[in-house]
Amino acid sequence: MIASSLSARPEIIRGLWATPKTLPPKLFYDEIGAALFERICTLDEYYLTRAELEILTSHASTIADLAGPRCGLIEYGSGAGTKVRLLLDVLDEPAAYAPVDISADQLARIAREIAAEYPGLSVRPLVADYTGPLLVPPLPEGTRPLVFFPGSTIGNFDPHEAAAFLRRAGITVGSEGAMLLGVDRRKDARVLEAAYNDASGVTAAFNLNVLARLNREFGSDFDLQRFRHNALWNDQASRIEMHLESLEAQTVRVADEPVHFAKGETIWTESSYKYDRSGLEELVRRGGFELARLWTDSEERFWVCWLTPSKLRA
Ligand code: TRP
Repeated sequence: MIASSLSARPEIIRGLWATPKTLPPKLFYDEIGAALFERICTLDEYYLTRAELEILTSHASTIADLAGPRCGLIEYGSGAGTKVRLLLDVLDEPAAYAPVDISADQLARIAREIAAEYPGLSVRPLVADYTGPLLVPPLPEGTRPLVFFPGSTIGNFDPHEAAAFLRRAGITVGSEGAMLLGVDRRKDARVLEAAYNDASGVTAAFNLNVLARLNREFGSDFDLQRFRHNALWNDQASRIEMHLESLEAQTVRVADEPVHFAKGETIWTESSYKYDRSGLEELVRRGGFELARLWTDSEERFWVCWLTPSKLRA
């Protein structure tokens, strides 16, 4: 935990002295942040998790048929492991499960639990920040890779980085594998803003935890009362922007250096891009895949895509 924020040190310093100010999203997921995110996933306003679970449940047997026997499942951002259990329950004798996550404690716990619940499954957890160069967890010989990237986490990359991520993941998928990708759809701005700024304040606590974490692990002195969470829909860029807004002009010390904030100035902590059909198709194509299957939920809020390697890929 301390190690991970220290390794983020150059990004923290660079981000806070930049204009606009930013912080790396991987800082969200310490133990406290991971627990807050689990609560976000159960909020009325946060439809994403429910919609994706509905799709995975409705199409579970088709997904199992497409995956075939003895696949090697690789999951980026395994979180609490709810969605993957749904897959493991229907897949035909999956050979291996390699969860990749930044939250080390949660990852170790999930890996232990899954290994106990699915005897015969080889569980190979990897603590990693998958926004950087991807470490590919080794799979047993002869298993067909299935990369699972749920939660619309792809939307936390900007479209250019998202395509680059897909191309890197394509190396893991190889020529025979496939990818199961969750993508949130463009929709009414009010629905989107509510999903990222819930009435009970859990999302605000999740965003503000980044500052609390810098205080705990980085010796900074952010006063959390003097910042507030903001989630704004940027229609032009098709993204929700998460900010921490300074409520007054103030100076905070970070790594023994002063950081000045004007009143109303923000730290941009994350974006969540939302896709329409043509945007999704372009992303998939630029990422080196083909959109082989596309499923949505009953309220058409979310997509789960079955991607196969593009035949055009070199
Ligand atoms: N992948 C999630 C999403 O874009 C992450 C997320 C949910 C998030 N709520 C958040 C990130 C609030 C920052 C702040 O939906």
